[in-house]
Amino acid sequence: MTVDNIWEQILDYSHRANPYPLYAELRRTPVAMLQDGAYVASGYAEIAALLHDPRVSSDFSHNPVAAAAAAGENGDGPGMSPTFLSMDPPDHDKFRRITMRHFGPPTTPGRVAGMEPRMTDIVTDLIDKMEGRTVDIVDELAYPLPVTIICELLGVAPGDEHRFRAWVEVALQSTDPGLDPETQQKKRAEAGKELRAFMEELVEAHRQSPGNDLLSALATDDGPEGRMPADQLVSTGLLLLIAGHETTVNLISNGILTLLRHPHELRRLRNDPDLAIPMVEELLRYEPPVHFIPFRTALDDIDIGGTTITAGSSITLLLAAGNRDPAHVADPDVFIPERRDNQHLGFGGGIHLCFGAPLARLEAQTALTAFARRLENPRLVEDPPSYRPSPFLRGPSHLPIDIDGVVARR
Ligand code: HEM
Repeated sequence: MTVDNIWEQILDYSHRANPYPLYAELRRTPVAMLQDGAYVASGYAEIAALLHDPRVSSDFSHNPVAAAAAAGENGDGPGMSPTFLSMDPPDHDKFRRITMRHFGPPTTPGRVAGMEPRMTDIVTDLIDKMEGRTVDIVDELAYPLPVTIICELLGVAPGDEHRFRAWVEVALQSTDPGLDPETQQKKRAEAGKELRAFMEELVEAHRQSPGNDLLSALATDDGPEGRMPADQLVSTGLLLLIAGHETTVNLISNGILTLLRHPHELRRLRNDPDLAIPMVEELLRYEPPVHFIPFRTALDDIDIGGTTITAGSSITLLLAAGNRDPAHVADPDVFIPERRDNQHLGFGGGIHLCFGAPLARLEAQTALTAFARRLENPRLVEDPPSYRPSPFLRGPSHLPIDIDGVVARR
């Protein structure tokens, strides 16, 4: 099979449930050039090197495909300012620092840790409602926990969730086989515009009447590097809102699916809740929510993995293949929660290393521990479950399970 065939199959929905054999085949060419001139890196060492290489840019304006997707094919895209996710230094570093001032140490050390009791309460209430029926883990645990937390953290009213859920789904949809590409693009652009209008309204409300939340802090703070410009704040608010739950949903549902496929590990977690910490790291390696990072661009020729990525080429970093590279990790296809020195790529790496990692870790640890402790005899109703369409934000669309009952809350 050519690398183009392998890559096509990876993107094809029919391989969503188990893309790992294809990743192993692709890894035989750790940095592969596709027919259209783009490159895919799938070896651990090569991905790690590219993530740290200043000759690799995240700026979409260097990448015609990414720029077209962001702008909309007819220039009718959501027209949002780029966020620090798609910026290079020095702008990336400045806007990430301005945002981090209100999210984590050293300026705001308690923001994430302070949410832990709230996470436990939310999970307890969600599990209380599961008594005596088939439960959909995605809709009843994996989605509501992170979405409620990110809304509370940002200062989005609980009732507003339904306003952005459908727009986010459309905006993120990579392939809907039922729609022609033009209609898809139009729907994405409309959803993007609605999302932006929603966030503009929210930011303005928080600027006028600030609360104790992240958006209020960003809208009113004139810290050492100045206030974040209004359009930048709108884009950053949306980035945090979307990145802050879409990925964590998949971590929790991929995690529960993995535990149900490894009942011995589920029993161990039930008896030893501290196991949740290394277990979540192993899940980020073994079944990561983000399978690849698209749209990096080489700013110069880069010699790597026996090939030369030519300047101007688009690069995709296949994190999930790197995570299972036998040259990096022993028994890569085995789920081993207590691996030592688990240097996975689940949160990316380098200057764009996931901003929300501490929050995502805590949410997943809380959800998995409570799941193991309180649900009696949980069983998968279907295996594999149905998957969401995206090949890069990969996770089940629904995860129905049967249970015998729920252990009473403490
Ligand atoms: C399990 C959950 C999560 C996973 C697997 C994940 C994964 C990632 C990955 C792979 C990147 C690197 C992207 C790149 O290099 O282009 C990233 C960046 C980012 N993530 Fe996450 N993420 C998760 C949760 C979160 C949460 C909860 C938040 C917000 C509260 C968040 C906010 C961000 C932001 C803002 C960036 C951009 C960082 C930068 O460019 O400096 N993520 N994430």
